[in-house]
Amino acid sequence: MGDRMLIRGGRPLSGAITAQGAKNAALPVMASALLLRGRRLTLERVPDLKDIHTMANLLRHLGAGIEFENGRMTIDVPDDLKWETPAELVRKMRASSLVLGPLVARCGKAVLPLPGGCAIGSRPIDFHLRGLARMGAEIDLEQGSVHARTSGLSATRISLDFPSVGATENMLMTAALTPGESVIENAAREPEISNLAQALRAMGTYVEGDGTGTITIRGSRELGSATVRIIPDRIEASTYLLAALMTRGEVTINDINTEYLAALLSKLDDAGVICDVSPYSVTLRGADQNWRGVTLTTSPYPGFPTDVQPQIMAALCMAEGTSVIHESVFDSRYVHVAEFRRMGGKIDIQGNTVVVIGVSKLIGAEVRASDLRAGAALIIMGLAADGQTEIHELKHIWRGYENLMEKMTSLGADIEIEPGSEIDE
Ligand code: EPZ
Repeated sequence: MGDRMLIRGGRPLSGAITAQGAKNAALPVMASALLLRGRRLTLERVPDLKDIHTMANLLRHLGAGIEFENGRMTIDVPDDLKWETPAELVRKMRASSLVLGPLVARCGKAVLPLPGGCAIGSRPIDFHLRGLARMGAEIDLEQGSVHARTSGLSATRISLDFPSVGATENMLMTAALTPGESVIENAAREPEISNLAQALRAMGTYVEGDGTGTITIRGSRELGSATVRIIPDRIEASTYLLAALMTRGEVTINDINTEYLAALLSKLDDAGVICDVSPYSVTLRGADQNWRGVTLTTSPYPGFPTDVQPQIMAALCMAEGTSVIHESVFDSRYVHVAEFRRMGGKIDIQGNTVVVIGVSKLIGAEVRASDLRAGAALIIMGLAADGQTEIHELKHIWRGYENLMEKMTSLGADIEIEPGSEIDE
């Protein structure tokens, strides 16, 4: 059995922490380095996370040289790259699909094992493949792998059926190395997309409209070395704010662009929770506030982020009144509900909608993390529950939360890791 996290609940969190670099910005920016030939991409404020190391190992497998220390990463890309990606790395992390576009644009071909589904849904990459085909790639599926090749891509207009974050990123990167003007319609608007656009501009690409639904790119055959700073992680920041609320503590998040938190802050306002907000820091005081149940639907940015849905569901388990949550981005992102029920959460799933009836007390229990954000939500539940909570399958949590034990301990949480008997995978 792997390591377990032990949390003894009931202690208010208080203090200040600094937001990490955004995992979901660093991963696509790392992949964009493959567009360079014999040049270097330097990234600053890269979080030290499992997923970052997985992506680094994938890029090394393809031929890149990577140094990573104290948040600073340099990626040196050779003239010749490998274009087949190893299944053991790709299946570990869906974001591996972000190397597909750059490899096809750079090498004229790529082989990528189809990323597996996971606890939050089937997660196909059909939008990515359709976009590449639109630009002139031939796509075949053989033995569970995507085989893509092209004799030359052409700039074009791509309209996405859904504002998919990954598909928008793959199209952005592919178009950056395709001479001519491409337009992505119904593009994702997440801040992480703009961070990738910033990196591409630094490499010499004309990109306009990132952050809106229509992005225009003028690609070229050769891009130059560049340096880019990764934006702060809005999902990590949201997680700690909800932990502060649930423990009735007082927590300040520094070095976070609070514009990214607008949907969460507005929902907290609906619940009767007022935060002190300045452009780059936010303080939530949970001590003297009860919070009301709310109704929320997750949706692509700037809507309420699906990656905060498990965490706010945890907080709503102790709201005064009833909440209704509708998950509209993923086809099944409620695996965490069963674990919340074990801790006393009163939750009813009705199709793709969940009804949460607030209770005044949660009880610590033995639970298991099913995915990254569900794991983070179980920590929030454990911090507020009476007694001890034991969380298993911690590997999911280490994928996305840098220095979590140090940060939680500095905020006063009674939290420790009990080493497991076997090496966790
Ligand atoms: C990114 O995943 C994030 N991951 C996810 O965060 C996040 O939940 C998601 O965007 C939505 O915001 C990274 O950025 C590395 P999508 P991505 O393509 O790009 C369907 C976390 O916890 N879809 O916007 O995979 C898909 O199944 C992770 O950090 C297709 O049907 O998300 C989903 O229902 C979890 N076909 C919806 O679209 C496709 O080709 C949104 O997916 C692509 C997506």
